[in-house]
Amino acid sequence: MGIPFDQLGRLFALWGHRTYPDWAWPLLARSLETLPPTARVLDLGGGTGVLARAALAARPDLKPVIADPARGMLRHAPPGVEVAVARAEELPFGAGRFDAVLVGEALHHFQEPVAALAQIARVLEPGGLLWIYDFDPRRGIGRWVYWGERLLGEPARFFSPEALLERLAEHDFTGVYEARGGRYVLSARLAGTPRATAHPA
Ligand SMILES: C[S@@+](CC[C@H](N)C(=O)[O-])C[C@H]1O[C@@H](n2cnc3c(N)ncnc32)[C@H](O)[C@@H]1O
Repeated sequence: MGIPFDQLGRLFALWGHRTYPDWAWPLLARSLETLPPTARVLDLGGGTGVLARAALAARPDLKPVIADPARGMLRHAPPGVEVAVARAEELPFGAGRFDAVLVGEALHHFQEPVAALAQIARVLEPGGLLWIYDFDPRRGIGRWVYWGERLLGEPARFFSPEALLERLAEHDFTGVYEARGGRYVLSARLAGTPRATAHPA
């Protein structure tokens, strides 16, 4: 059981971006502004690359890679963007390979999200950015998504934003979040000094 992502590429390519609230996009753009020129960005559980597309729209100089186990999703990735068939729990990338990792509506689908967080910390540069959009299972629409996914046989391993920040602290991240109606955007930094930013303050 579970959602057959492999067969849903066309649907996500058409509608995936619509599942994000409008207020998430400026938050993403603001986080991306802090990245160095030509920063290497991993769209993890990226499916058809909704976040990779948004990142390129905000910062055309970025170098995204989309990683996802579902080939049927990756087939609809934007032309020219690198893709990797991979699970978040076993990322086939060297340590410090990325300046940023983006995870949109995907963390709760991972079988082992805690193992995935360790992998994210490993593949990020010191000072690297982690940007997550997900649902809070205790509130608003998040409650419905939680129960819906449980019924569908998905892992449904949801974190509240507070619990996620605590988990991330165990991997040397510090961050903030903005939550509205059962959805949240969390932005965190791995300890260390990031490479020079594109837009220094
Ligand atoms: C709801 S979709 C979101 C896709 C994309 N991030 C977006 O915003 O449209 C969840 C994605 O998580 C992927 N996924 C499921 N388990 C995964 C895992 N263990 N590691 C990485 N990605 C996974 C699925 O294949 C699917 O593409």
